[in-house]
Amino acid sequence: MVGSAGGPEKKRRLLEEFGYDAAIDYREGDLEGQLAEAAPDGIDVYFDNVGGDHLRAAIGAMRTHGRIALCGAISMYNATEPVPGPDNLHLAVGKRLTLRGFIVGDHYDLFGEYAQRAATWLAEGSLRAEQTVVEGIDHAVDGFLDMMRGANTGKMLVRLGS
Ligand SMILES: NC(=O)c1ccc[n+]([C@@H]2O[C@H](COP(=O)([O-])OP(=O)(O)OC[C@H]3O[C@@H](n4cnc5c(N)ncnc54)[C@H](OP(=O)(O)O)[C@@H]3O)[C@@H](O)[C@H]2O)c1
Repeated sequence: MVGSAGGPEKKRRLLEEFGYDAAIDYREGDLEGQLAEAAPDGIDVYFDNVGGDHLRAAIGAMRTHGRIALCGAISMYNATEPVPGPDNLHLAVGKRLTLRGFIVGDHYDLFGEYAQRAATWLAEGSLRAEQTVVEGIDHAVDGFLDMMRGANTGKMLVRLGS
């Protein structure tokens, strides 16, 4: 399993604390090169939260019949001009790739089961989760901007009074 994070400290934590086999620091650039080094035989599944350069690198590294879950495209949210799609999408044909989007709201019927199972995993320690907490609604915008900049580690939360 290969993870991507911004900065050497977050990369280190992916490897040493979160159980990834290999990690990429996307702020270093050359995503294709880093991914080739991390997964020299290619990848079968890519979970896309980023779009843009990450999606392009993943399509390039996908193996035949690989699958891409399209969850988000955070690298494009602040773009001030239209962002072109990955320029290597044609590779999906020869590789017979599947790209499928999904929305969490389609699966709210499973929320109870998820909460129960995830609570157990968290308690056991088999699922690790972190939070960065901003205090007070007055700092909600700062928290949001920090999240977009990657100043958070884990889920960015706003605490509303006590
Ligand atoms: N499909 C759905 O139902 C659904 C629901 C909720 C959210 N989403 C999507 O899931 C993704 C994660 O959302 P979240 O709310 O959970 O926030 P999150 O995990 O806290 O994600 C924020 C992180 O995105 C990274 N990031 C920001 N700009 C980036 C860039 N240009 N390239 C690469 N990474 C970048 C930063 O990582 P570093 O700290 O490592 O720099 C930042 O910490 C978003 O794309 C969001 O739209 C989808």
